[in-house]
Amino acid sequence: MPVSIKSAQDIEGMRVAGRLASEVLDHLAPQIRPGMTTEAIDKICHDFMVNVQQTIPAPLNYCPPGYSPYPKSVCTSVNHQVCHGIPGSKVLKAGDVVNVDITVIKDGYHGDTSRMFYVGAPSIAAKRLCEVTHECLWRGIEQVSPGRSLGDIGHAIQQHAEAAGYSVVREFCGHGIGKVFHEEPQVLHYGKPGTGLKLQAGMTFTIEPMINAGRPEIRELADGWTIVTKDHSLSAQWEHTILVTETGFEVLTVSVGSPDWERTRQSLATG
Ligand code: MF3
Ligand code: CO
Ligand code: CO
Repeated sequence: MPVSIKSAQDIEGMRVAGRLASEVLDHLAPQIRPGMTTEAIDKICHDFMVNVQQTIPAPLNYCPPGYSPYPKSVCTSVNHQVCHGIPGSKVLKAGDVVNVDITVIKDGYHGDTSRMFYVGAPSIAAKRLCEVTHECLWRGIEQVSPGRSLGDIGHAIQQHAEAAGYSVVREFCGHGIGKVFHEEPQVLHYGKPGTGLKLQAGMTFTIEPMINAGRPEIRELADGWTIVTKDHSLSAQWEHTILVTETGFEVLTVSVGSPDWERTRQSLATG
């Protein structure tokens, strides 16, 4: 299957879905506190999606080949959990960091975004990892323009992560997205400049680097979903859904509460 080029109508649908996904995180953000469970995060997000937004939580019962159906509406990955953490009875404590990953479906279109949240005050090490990982996401986003290649995105991310002494998780990547949750292309978070698929206006995909404070290797837990670092080092991830425009990029998963709202607004204003 070739990489799809979205129509004007598709793009409008994805702008709506992207904003809604980001607004779930805006709604959640002020409610995160020590003592709450990751299941409580799932309920806050699920209820907002289903009852307020009338969006569909794409993860619920999502079942890629070789997996069991995903049992919850969002992913919550705490500390050394890399991604796909299943919300449950785990109680968050002060100093934890948690990634919350939201994918909504609205009118058939997907919006996919995640942020890191501090539970109480973070350690210096955790704060630095979360900040550098956010910078990695943006270094990747800033590569996006027609004629650039996927390798440019991966290289920019890898370069920034490794310069900080961190490592890039290799087994999971960003992905094309639209009416389908995960489609081509695969967007690797490492690579060589000028290699791989050439970007064209109308492509939509996520960039979602997973960066480990220690070694890059990961392990899957017995639940069949949760991914953790093999060495138990901290891991962080941020994700946006991106459109390739005629002049560069548009971040689709933005809302007034996006931590990078100001930066996104400026990039839109200056084209
Ligand atoms: N939202 C994740 C991503 O960024 C995918 C989660 S799949 C799930 O691609 F089933 F675990 F939710
Ligand atoms: Co994604
Ligand atoms: Co996601």
